[in-house]
Amino acid sequence: MRVYVLNGPNLGRLGTRQVDVYGATSYADLVGLCEATGRELGLDVTVRQTDAEHELVGWLHEAADEQAAVVLNPAAWSHYSIAVRDACALLRGPLVEVHISNIHAREEFRAHSVISAVATGVICGLGVDGYRLALHHLAARAEAAGASAEAARAGAGTTGG
Ligand code: DQA
Repeated sequence: MRVYVLNGPNLGRLGTRQVDVYGATSYADLVGLCEATGRELGLDVTVRQTDAEHELVGWLHEAADEQAAVVLNPAAWSHYSIAVRDACALLRGPLVEVHISNIHAREEFRAHSVISAVATGVICGLGVDGYRLALHHLAARAEAAGASAEAARAGAGTTGG
């Protein structure tokens, strides 16, 4: 299964940016963690980061066209970008929204995400481990969908006599 791990503004600065909030893992380490988890789970993982909103919208369109799954940390855009939300609403695969910090335990303006209502699920406050957990969820979900499709095929075979 194809999975895009997409990251919004300032996340390229992980490792040096507010280490007390976001931890010491660098962005390069995060990419390595996602790629290694993808290999372990048999997922085709592509990790990207941008500080340009139109670029993220374009990547979401690409994921929608490919019916890919998405793990998205929209960063500051979470709190106000209707353009990113509308692009997320186009997705045809599952979307897991991830925040490294617990956005509910910080400034009030961070507590609301305009993305969450169109996400399949949200993970926040678990550090960069949230990305690993999101990928595990997507793999389990794909496996469950495959198993139920297989059972439906087997069922159709037996009713035909
Ligand atoms: C963040 C939380 C956002 O409020 C913030 O703007 C970020 C990162 C997180 O991962 O905790 O850039 O999405």
